[in-house]
Amino acid sequence: MKGILLAGGEGTRLHPMTRVVSKQLLPVYDKPLVYYPLTTLMLAGVRDILIITRPRDAAAFAALLGDGSAWGLSLTYAVQPAPRGIAEALVLGRTFLAGGPSALVLGDNLFFGAGLGRNLGLVAARNPGATVFAYPVRDPSRYGVIALDAAGRPASLEEKPAQPRSSLAIPGLYFYDAQAPDLAAALAPSPRGELEISDVNRAYLDRGRLVVVPLGRGATWLDVGTPEALAQASAYVQTLQERQGLMIGSPEEVAYRLGLIDAEALARLAAPLAHNAYGRYLRDLLATP
Ligand code: G1P
Repeated sequence: MKGILLAGGEGTRLHPMTRVVSKQLLPVYDKPLVYYPLTTLMLAGVRDILIITRPRDAAAFAALLGDGSAWGLSLTYAVQPAPRGIAEALVLGRTFLAGGPSALVLGDNLFFGAGLGRNLGLVAARNPGATVFAYPVRDPSRYGVIALDAAGRPASLEEKPAQPRSSLAIPGLYFYDAQAPDLAAALAPSPRGELEISDVNRAYLDRGRLVVVPLGRGATWLDVGTPEALAQASAYVQTLQERQGLMIGSPEEVAYRLGLIDAEALARLAAPLAHNAYGRYLRDLLATP
């Protein structure tokens, strides 16, 4: 399965921080935000990933992430000329996907939980059609909202409803079969002028091909769209990392643990960072079984 990581958007709620720097390149504690969704895709088993950015940010992403070979990945790039919505990523990615299934992740979403990435990938691989997740939040009207019937089947799906029918938000990680680019291309823009990913998901729902997987209390999903959320995500990552001595969202570590790179390659990646905590962490991984 191929992956698409969407790192577009104007990030206006984070101005002036994002006037010059893309939101997805801002630091969440000790690493760029984009590392977190990238490692989620890696853990879900995705190796071939298209990164979609604003035209003005393309060079910065390429400089940071390269062609992915250092992490055992294949990374390619495309631009979204204007913020025309998340679903447009599937249209822009059509050639890249080459008629196959996809995992789409939003570049400002952070997922964390024991075995979470791997489990999400396994669940999605079992399901035909589309797989989305449902996560309880206090403020569902900021998100795509899914309501379930008594049997746990999806009953309705709305984008940012003023009167949400449930507290279940749909996080920015979606697994689709080969139909998704066609369904996205057939959409009309919403009142906010965007191709809504919720409309793609509703198209699957209407065809009886949407599977909704609940994410329980043990899972963390954060989306980093506001200054408060950015500070909270940083504090969250710092707290867990300092407590456990284990990193969240390090592509080098994930690549090594998944066997995508060997010890020699990890040592090479750690060497230029040896003067800081990130580099020492990578180096210490080599000494721990
Ligand atoms: C987007 C989607 C929404 C989803 C959210 C997850 O919202 O439209 O359905 O729940 O991402 O982060 P937006 O970031 O466009 O406000």
